[in-house]
Amino acid sequence: MKKALTTPSSRAQLDKIFVLGSLFGASTWFCCLFLTAFVFWLIVFVKKKRIHYVEIHEKDWCPEFIRMCTQMALHSGWITFGLDWIVGSAARTVSEVIIREIVSKVRSDKGSIENVDKNVNAQKVVFIDLCSGGGGPTPFIHHLLRTEHLVEVETYLSDLHPQVKQWKYLCVHNDHLKYVEKSMNALSIDMASVLDSKDSVVVRSMYASFHHFLPLQVIHLLSDCIVNGHALIVVEPLIKRDHVLDFLQFPFMMILQSPLYLFWIIRHYLFAPDYSIFEKFTKIFLSIVGLPLWLATLIHDGVVSCARTYTHAEMLELTKLAEVDASKKQKLPYSYQWKAWTENAHLPFLAKALFPMTFLVGMPVPLKN
Ligand SMILES: C[S@@+](CC[C@H](N)C(=O)[O-])C[C@H]1O[C@@H](n2cnc3c(N)ncnc32)[C@H](O)[C@@H]1O
Repeated sequence: MKKALTTPSSRAQLDKIFVLGSLFGASTWFCCLFLTAFVFWLIVFVKKKRIHYVEIHEKDWCPEFIRMCTQMALHSGWITFGLDWIVGSAARTVSEVIIREIVSKVRSDKGSIENVDKNVNAQKVVFIDLCSGGGGPTPFIHHLLRTEHLVEVETYLSDLHPQVKQWKYLCVHNDHLKYVEKSMNALSIDMASVLDSKDSVVVRSMYASFHHFLPLQVIHLLSDCIVNGHALIVVEPLIKRDHVLDFLQFPFMMILQSPLYLFWIIRHYLFAPDYSIFEKFTKIFLSIVGLPLWLATLIHDGVVSCARTYTHAEMLELTKLAEVDASKKQKLPYSYQWKAWTENAHLPFLAKALFPMTFLVGMPVPLKN
C-alpha cells in the first residue's frame, strides 16, 4: 500500500511551522507599528515642534472600506462601545464641557438663566460639526444635550468625505440631528446650506480633526468663525506629543481594543438599513479579512496625529493671529474669549488617565464701551 502523504508526525511539524510563522508575522507587524510610533516621537523630540506628515484616511486614494472602518472605530471609542450607561464615555465628558463652557455662558449673557438645566425655553443652539467622519461623538452629545440637559439643539454633521449611509442611520435615531449630503470643506463652509435662521446661537465643533490643518489653514478656519461670530469647540482626544508614551499608547490601545472595533463595525453593517444583503455581506467580509490593513491605518494615523497635534500655547497663539486676520476683514462689534486646557474623560479607574482630551473653546463676547 502507498504510504500516506502526511503522517501524524509530519502533520504535527506542519502545525508547528504554521503557528510559529503566524506568531512571527504578528509580532513583526506589532513591532513595526511600535517602531513607527517611536520614530515619530524621536523626530518630534529632536525638532521640538509639530510635524505635518500624511494621514492615510484623509487622502482621496484611501480605499473607502478602510476609511469607513477607521471612522467607525473612532465613533465606537467615543461612546465606549455603547456602554456609556455603565462606565461613562468621552462623548459624555464633552457634552458636560459644552454645558459648562458654552451653553451656560450663552444663557447667562442673555440674562435669562442662572441654572442651565432648568431653563427649557432658552434660545436654540445650532451645532455645525466639521470633519464628522463616521459621526464621532456628535450624535451622542446631541442626544445628551437634548435629553439630559434639555437644550434645544440642532446639529449638522459634515465632512470632506461625507459618510451619508452611516449618518442617515444615526439621524433616524436622533431628532434634529441632520447632515450635509455634499462634501463640505471645513476651510470653505457654505453657511447657507446649513443655517436657515439667524436667531440661533451657532457653535462650530471639531472633534479629533483640528490637527488635520496646517497653521495657516487653522488661522483661516478660526478667522472665518470669528467673522461669523460663531462659538467654537475643538476637542483632540488621546493625542498629545509631550512624551514618548503619548505615541506608544496609540498602538497599544488600538491593538487591545481591535476585537471591540470589529464587533462594532459588524453590528453596524448588520443593522443599518441602507445596505443591500450583498453590500452587508461584502462589507462584513472586507472588515474581517482587512482587519490588519484598517487597524494599521488607524494606528499609523493616530501616531501621525500625535506628531501633528497643537499644544495649548500653539492653539492660543493661532487664535490671536486669527483675530488679527478677522479684524482686517471687517470691524467686529465683539471680541473673543479663548481657553485651552486638557481634561481627562470621565471614565473609571485607569481608563480615565488613558483618555486625556485637549480642549479649545472660543466664545464671542460683546465689546465694553
Ligand atoms: C480623524 S477623523 C475624525 C472624525 C470624527 N470627528 C471623530 O471624532 O471620530 C478626521 C475627519 O476629518 C475629515 N477632514 C479632513 N480634512 C477635512 C477638510 N478640509 N474639511 C472637512 N473635513 C475634513 C476627514 O475626512 C475625516 O473624516
